[in-house]
Amino acid sequence: MNSEQIQQLIAEMTLEEKVGQLTQFAGVFYSTHENDTPLTGRIDFPVNETIIEASGSVLGIAGAKKLIDIQEMHLQKSRLKIPLLFMADVINGYETIFPIPLGLGSTWDPELVEELQAVSAKEAASAGLHVSFAPMVDLVRDPRWGRVMESTGEDPYLNEQFAEATVRGLQGSDLLHNMDHIAACVKHFAAYGAAEAGRDYNTVDLSERELREMHMPAYIAALNAGVKLVMTAFNTVHSIPASANTQLLRGMLRKEYGFDGVVISDYGAVQELIPHGVAENEEEAAEKALRAGVDIDMMSLCYAQSLSELIHEKKLDESLLDEAVERILQLKNDLGLFEDPYRATSEEREQATLGHASHKQLARKAAEKSAVLLKNENVLPLQDRERLALIGPYADNNDLLGEWSIFGKMEDTATLKDKLEPTFYAKGAEMYERNQKLLDEALHIANQADIIVLALGEGRDRSGEGRSRASITLAPCQIELAKKLKELGKPIVVTLFNARPLDLSELEPYVDAILECWHPGSEGAAAIINLLFGKANPSGKLTMSFPRATGQIPVYYNSYQTGRPLPAGSDERFFSRYIDIANEPLYPFGFGLSYAAFEYSQLRATNLNLQKTETLTVEVDVTNTSDVAGEEIVQLYLQDPVAEVVRPVKELKGFKKILLAPHETKTITFEINEEMLRYHHSDLTYSSDPGTFFVYINGSSKCDEANKLELQLIHS
Ligand code: GLC
Repeated sequence: MNSEQIQQLIAEMTLEEKVGQLTQFAGVFYSTHENDTPLTGRIDFPVNETIIEASGSVLGIAGAKKLIDIQEMHLQKSRLKIPLLFMADVINGYETIFPIPLGLGSTWDPELVEELQAVSAKEAASAGLHVSFAPMVDLVRDPRWGRVMESTGEDPYLNEQFAEATVRGLQGSDLLHNMDHIAACVKHFAAYGAAEAGRDYNTVDLSERELREMHMPAYIAALNAGVKLVMTAFNTVHSIPASANTQLLRGMLRKEYGFDGVVISDYGAVQELIPHGVAENEEEAAEKALRAGVDIDMMSLCYAQSLSELIHEKKLDESLLDEAVERILQLKNDLGLFEDPYRATSEEREQATLGHASHKQLARKAAEKSAVLLKNENVLPLQDRERLALIGPYADNNDLLGEWSIFGKMEDTATLKDKLEPTFYAKGAEMYERNQKLLDEALHIANQADIIVLALGEGRDRSGEGRSRASITLAPCQIELAKKLKELGKPIVVTLFNARPLDLSELEPYVDAILECWHPGSEGAAAIINLLFGKANPSGKLTMSFPRATGQIPVYYNSYQTGRPLPAGSDERFFSRYIDIANEPLYPFGFGLSYAAFEYSQLRATNLNLQKTETLTVEVDVTNTSDVAGEEIVQLYLQDPVAEVVRPVKELKGFKKILLAPHETKTITFEINEEMLRYHHSDLTYSSDPGTFFVYINGSSKCDEANKLELQLIHS
């Protein structure tokens, strides 16, 4: 359809038909099949047939046969034959599940993520879906929040890269004609990751500067990549919930950032304006949300039951409704749904697409590259399987897909034990409960082995939405298991399966190696075995700091120095410090070991003065001083030591992932320009200042004077 035809269609629509396009309800209200799709929120309202029949899009159900049936039934009843949109959360894969996004971020490989998100789209499209509620690009600094698993971490620049890569992977370059792609929906606008105390749905209260400096870049990157939808966050922004925040939606998103696509509320967020205390009732919630710019009301009755009345009573102008309808119909048109409401989906295509061998290979590669080697006291890679004991509650556990693997198949997911086939195996403890019998068995078994692989972590039942934790330690029974095994005097290698940074302070001294595996997806077990035995060399680096203690949260690398920075090695009182732990995290942003070893030398610049209109090149030599090939993520950080407002002690501004053969040296170069030194001033102007700045290049955010260059920015 062209725009005239869309206008014509709107002109023919009744008020009720228009309102219907602005509502979205869960698949459970549609499916004539046994609906096996888990819900992503509460259902605490009755929905009647009329409301469902009028609705324009469906949430959270997938499967070629199901969606073909639902679409057919809908079109038979639709007077104007306006097709349904099918939307669902395909965050890290559809049936082939990739590592959780916090793991994918640890690859520092946007090209890989674009590739695997294209596979996710292909599988989801074959199952009849049109939209995925991804990428989630919320910047995170608080691992108490269960949803850090969906994010790519604490750095705005890195989050920008993955936001763009995910949109491009899901949408491709020709959404209308390429049926293997689906529309993407960036979320949650805005700053949902800054919930106070890491408690889900809690207040977010940021300065406008912090919002723009840290949180907005990744949303903007998704918009610039052409994302088709934006989802409003549950939380407040400047004390107004996002779904009623006109300045945020019509001011920033549409006017300043130029977004003209569909804005969909998060699940029930329009109705939640009432408990938030900015709406008296559902009628006022509907009025505020539409005025603010929410096009689709997901899983609430506010729009469905109030908009018509509000327009009849002239409390709302119908033009507001028409503009939302137009954006929704345009999205359906961008997907070609008026020509083909099924987008060529079929059971045959679905069958041929889901779980394809090439998808599994990619899932294994992604899991290998997501893992982060946190500690290795010369025990990895393992040489010999024979004398190995595999112990722990995650040893024979298929809970590897992560909390957003709605359409994944845990039952088909191999466990570490399946893939390792260890000579000795014992569970050692339940995931969260102590069990003396299991502990005794584990100690007995371990005594017969030469080395122990200890599989620990926390399941999907402790991560994701609505699963904040006030303490981020491993379960005490798992710590006890490690300590008891340590008494046997054998090397212990921990494989950690978790979806947030954990406080590993109590575990770390008792083990010889720690491989952070995250929830690694469908092929995670095979990937971890490859890494343990050196068939693959760990290359991942953390994108979120691991605190020493919950009490240290928030701890992140791009912090401000304060007026009393603690001098290295000092324990003097009147400095910014704790008296019971060090200031640094246990493992910092950008950190990750390899079986290889890398040395940085000869940091140099073509010249030390950067003219505002030019670029300059900085170089560093990186040498693999080991006998094994390995990948290294070379990181470029900049620091503005004196500015109009306080500036982070360093900011990631570039990175390169390189492969080095044994004893090979490569010269790595980065281009630096004035744009990289811009920041929001106190009056929110975004610009750079002339003067001194520092350049750091290293294999983690932990840089010292040896990795530092001083340059001048000239504004002449
Ligand atoms: C959930 C989540 C959101 C998801 C939506 C639909 O509550 O907050 O990320 O996309 O509902 O499932």
